[in-house]
Amino acid sequence: MDKQYLIVTYGCQMNVHESEKIAGILHERGYTECTDSRDADIIVFNTCCIRENAENHAYGNIGALKKLKRAKPSLLIAVGGCMTQQEGAAEKLRRKFPFVDIVFGTHNLSRLGELIDLRAKGKKVVEVTEQPELLREAPSFRTSYPNAWVNIMYGCNNFCSYCIVPYVRGRERSRTPDEVVAEVNGLLNAGYKEITLLGQNVNSYGNDRGGAFTFPQLLDRICTRKEKFRLRFMTSNPKDFGEELIRAIAENEQVCDLVHLPVQAGSDRILRLMNRKYTAAEYLKKVEMLKKRVPGCQITSDIMVGFPTETEEDFRATLSLVKEAGFFTAFTFVYSRRSGTAAAQMEGQIPEEVQKERIMRLVELVNAQTRELSLPYRGKEIEVLCEDYDAAKGVYLGRDEYGRMGYFKSERDQVGEFVKIKISDTSGVSLTGELVEEKGGVRE
Ligand code: SAH
Ligand code: SF4
Ligand code: F3S
Repeated sequence: MDKQYLIVTYGCQMNVHESEKIAGILHERGYTECTDSRDADIIVFNTCCIRENAENHAYGNIGALKKLKRAKPSLLIAVGGCMTQQEGAAEKLRRKFPFVDIVFGTHNLSRLGELIDLRAKGKKVVEVTEQPELLREAPSFRTSYPNAWVNIMYGCNNFCSYCIVPYVRGRERSRTPDEVVAEVNGLLNAGYKEITLLGQNVNSYGNDRGGAFTFPQLLDRICTRKEKFRLRFMTSNPKDFGEELIRAIAENEQVCDLVHLPVQAGSDRILRLMNRKYTAAEYLKKVEMLKKRVPGCQITSDIMVGFPTETEEDFRATLSLVKEAGFFTAFTFVYSRRSGTAAAQMEGQIPEEVQKERIMRLVELVNAQTRELSLPYRGKEIEVLCEDYDAAKGVYLGRDEYGRMGYFKSERDQVGEFVKIKISDTSGVSLTGELVEEKGGVRE
């Protein structure tokens, strides 16, 4: 029988996509996927260290494998991703979990196959070089149809003071436009309907290649394809979000009118300490420009509370910015102290009770705003791209251009189809609707 693998993924979409590359490497070596760790011949952890709880999760789950490994010594355990690339992390892993076979950093992902071979020769393998691999791509094994992620760049140069990413992902490296376009075209030819371009700050795409070919130009070039598909991107840093990108969103039908624009905070003093390089007023001006040029456009955000020295007044500035920007939804986080970052050294770390109280108030406001912005949907027809069928509930799930989830019933297979549904209920963050027009194939 084929050897089997299990991949456990933490963290952002970048990591989810990199797990598809890990899967690609394992498929090339004849492994197939399994869902039960007891059946696995190799278990790969693709870790995240953006916040302490992400790390604790991974540590807990790796620790839990000790028994399994004792019962089945041939099981290979590999740990990769951002956590391993932190200073001293490989050593810590080796000490805490001596049963781990392979540790590979973010710069060494495409070497996983070779590391497995090395391990087979009897050596424990730790490879966490700082030297970025020269954009050596690994083949992706995707199970996300009709959606697909495509990396356009790696790394980050921004060094926001709270953030570990620049330390564990290295400096910005952009793929060439030809390479990106070829991958996107291949996916569209294969029938994918939604492409999400990934980078820590897509606005600096190409800067490391002399800046002759920019991100808005990349969008233009991809959108010369005339068939129906959706194009999304993550993430755009507000500091270099500007008119050219707004133009590309407005002019290209396929680019979704939804922009994820992480603001982090509403107080200029905190934004400065965070090294975000924009003020609340500048941010709001860009939001206004976008809404004016792209009518109906929605904005989502990332917001953090409890950054060092944040006062009640600073926090209230965040609340009022949330209202003023009219975020559709937002990911909300409690600041987590990351060793090695500038903010970790700052005086005035905020007590946990205060952080908790603030995050609760923020979440309440964001949810209320989402509910309010959902109300006008009732009775409306929206177009969703159907992504999945939930057999247990007997419903299909799709998303509209703005990322809103809608559920509906159908007798036919709708996955991968753009369908119109009429919204009958808008409770919470999801919408319930009825199919307006039957299309799709026979459900298996
Ligand atoms: N490159 C993206 C963000 C990637 S990290 C950008 O700049 O927009 C995703 C989110 O995690 C960030 O937007 C931030 O809100 C949050 N985050 C990053 N570091 C954090 C920390 N130390 N504590 C809490 N949240 C953090
Ligand atoms: Fe982190 Fe800032 Fe880079 Fe985003 S832009 S990954 S928040 S350092
Ligand atoms: Fe992503 Fe976590 Fe790394 S958010 S870039 S997987 S630290």
